[in-house]
Amino acid sequence: MPDMTTTQTITPTTTATATDDAVSGVDIELVGVTKRYPGQKKAAVEDVNLHIPAGQILMLVGPSGCGKTTTLKMINRLIEPSSGQILIGGEDARAKDADELRRHIGYVIQGGSLFPHMTVAANIAMVPQMLGWDKKRITERVDELLDLVGLDPARYRDRYPRELSGGQQQRVGVARGLAADPPVILMDEPFGAVDPITRQRLQDELLSIQEELRKTIVCVTHDFDEAVKLGDQIAILREGGEIAQLDTPANILAAPANRFVENFIGAGSTLKQLTLSRVGEIDLEQTTTATVGESGPEVLQRARTNGHRAVVVLDQRRRPLRWDWLRAIEDQPVISDENHDLVTVDRRATLNDALDTMLVSGHGGVVVTGRRDEYLGIVRIGALVNLLQETREQAEQAMSEAAELERPAAPDHAEAALAAEVLQQHAEVPPTAEEGPQ
Ligand SMILES: Nc1ncnc2c1ncn2[C@@H]1O[C@H](COP(=O)(O)OP(=O)(O)O)[C@@H](O)[C@H]1O
Ligand SMILES: [Mg+2]
Repeated sequence: MPDMTTTQTITPTTTATATDDAVSGVDIELVGVTKRYPGQKKAAVEDVNLHIPAGQILMLVGPSGCGKTTTLKMINRLIEPSSGQILIGGEDARAKDADELRRHIGYVIQGGSLFPHMTVAANIAMVPQMLGWDKKRITERVDELLDLVGLDPARYRDRYPRELSGGQQQRVGVARGLAADPPVILMDEPFGAVDPITRQRLQDELLSIQEELRKTIVCVTHDFDEAVKLGDQIAILREGGEIAQLDTPANILAAPANRFVENFIGAGSTLKQLTLSRVGEIDLEQTTTATVGESGPEVLQRARTNGHRAVVVLDQRRRPLRWDWLRAIEDQPVISDENHDLVTVDRRATLNDALDTMLVSGHGGVVVTGRRDEYLGIVRIGALVNLLQETREQAEQAMSEAAELERPAAPDHAEAALAAEVLQQHAEVPPTAEEGPQ
């Protein structure tokens, strides 16, 4: 542990839950923070007040030029505030040496910004090296972090950034941000440079890492769906760093504070209901599974008894490998370990992510995985449609009740209806529940 965690950790008071033991982050507080760049009439960020409780993720979201990056960089003093105070773990950030401060704040930016002439391991090891860790500890830490971000250490530690895909470079960037186990991580559009499916994976991985580490994370994005997915809180900024609304994703969606917020979330998120719920929160459909090495005839019998025409084949650690039709099982006295690069979604993926995955893959369903990529079940487009219809009915109910009481109508009704319509169109294409692989 870096010394800062011992000197700066304070007992969190705002997130008093049973799991507080696991929080390794510290509180961050911005008090009346203003940044005026030289020669500018209007401040880039004016009088911003924010409190990020230890162990939480705050998403800073808003249109280009509204001051997100400026706000973020003032926290680690890559940009010096013109006025105001920034407290990290209760201590004034400006009272510290700026370099020293930055060594204890992880910083992750778009593309990972890796040094091209340095190996993956050397890139990750930078801050621990500056902190004077011994060689053995650094080597172990690098491997541990590569594991954590889903890259096999033996395969990747000696590679150069150019030998990695965009998504892999971004993973290394996250590993580097976490290297010295800082209590605070700042991220600036970290997943902006990768394709949508990779982005979804990286988001899921970040959530999984955060579940374990409970850092305090401030993350900039211009993607409202990403803010809803990752944020415990979202600050929606408008020009001049003014906070248009600061609240939980659910509260912002349910009650946008003003027209600016309404427009902002309206443009960025058509299927909002699907962004708010995660795959792991809904009842997953169960199908027959088979394990590599198992007797084929036994699997056949089980699937037929269950009335399934296909099975999901799992490896010895229960990770899904492929779908097999029953006739493919007939050709296997013993279930083979062939891997078809099955596309799966993590349980932390939003329903919107699952829908994206289905639409991109052209399949009407997708296999869901949990801890250690173990099989959990499947989700199909029909289930998403049903869910949206339920939401719509609830919204209608709420609306008629509201009308009776002459209160303002519940929001989101039209949105849910539209979403259901869009889904209905897609739902006609894919196979139904009994049909198995898609
Ligand atoms: N180094 C700088 N010098 C002068 N003006 C800057 C500088 N950096 C950013 N700005 C201005 O400050 C405002 C906020 O920029 P920024 O924080 O980068 O916004 P965002 O990250 O939300 O796109 C913009 O008007 C931008 O032009
Ligand atoms: Mg920016």
